[in-house]
Amino acid sequence: MDEAGFAEAFDRWVETTGPKCYESLLGPHLPPRVERALDVGCGPGYLALYLAGRADHVVGLDLSGAMTRLARRKRDRVGVGNVSFVTGDVGAPPLRPASFDVVSSDTMLHDTEIEVTLPVLRSLVRPGGWVILRDVTTRHTGRSRSPLWQLAGTIRQVPRYLRELGPRQTWSVLRFEASPTWVRHRAEGGELTREEFRAAYSRVFPDCTFLDEPWAMTAIWRAPT
Ligand SMILES: C[S@@+](CC[C@H](N)C(=O)[O-])C[C@H]1O[C@@H](n2cnc3c(N)ncnc32)[C@H](O)[C@@H]1O
Repeated sequence: MDEAGFAEAFDRWVETTGPKCYESLLGPHLPPRVERALDVGCGPGYLALYLAGRADHVVGLDLSGAMTRLARRKRDRVGVGNVSFVTGDVGAPPLRPASFDVVSSDTMLHDTEIEVTLPVLRSLVRPGGWVILRDVTTRHTGRSRSPLWQLAGTIRQVPRYLRELGPRQTWSVLRFEASPTWVRHRAEGGELTREEFRAAYSRVFPDCTFLDEPWAMTAIWRAPT
């Protein structure tokens, strides 16, 4: 699968398995209105487009040019004018320090070296601004990185997919989840256990609040004024 094919397949997979609903999770923790918001590892742009309703301007940053192109097409299709998508690495972002009221990210920080990335994200938020970071967590650190473990996890989900999505969509989901690109991607990711997540995020964002979901955790932190 090339980069553009992967971006399209990832977007279809998210749409099929459950489009992102940020309002109930993040809505109550975000200020009602801000000037500038950032979504790092924005992928096809779900969180950036959600933030567009709460911010004067949103920047979506992603390492993959195919993802930012896809996100721009989606933005233009839905007619949202206040989001720009930038291609770049969150480890060395082409962005001014302390220039965002909200710095956010969804299910991507496990793709990065968080000892480097979390301090970078902290440097981008303005005094008094908010950092809201959600990432997938794991129960079994070592095993969850093996490709066979990833595939076994997908197979365990088949009855649920069949029940909830029907045979045609289940087939499309399985083709994506069992694709070498996705299996390799998941196996290479540094997913943390809940305990590791709390410890790592608390070190950079002291006294942050944690939200728990069955498969993910979110850290919410307000920068000192
Ligand atoms: C699993 S996808 C999640 C996308 C999106 N946040 C979502 O929730 O739909 C992870 C995204 O992080 C991006 N990514 C990975 N490493 C990155 C880095 N170092 N800098 C910026 N983006 C990165 C990938 O290109 C990919 O689009």
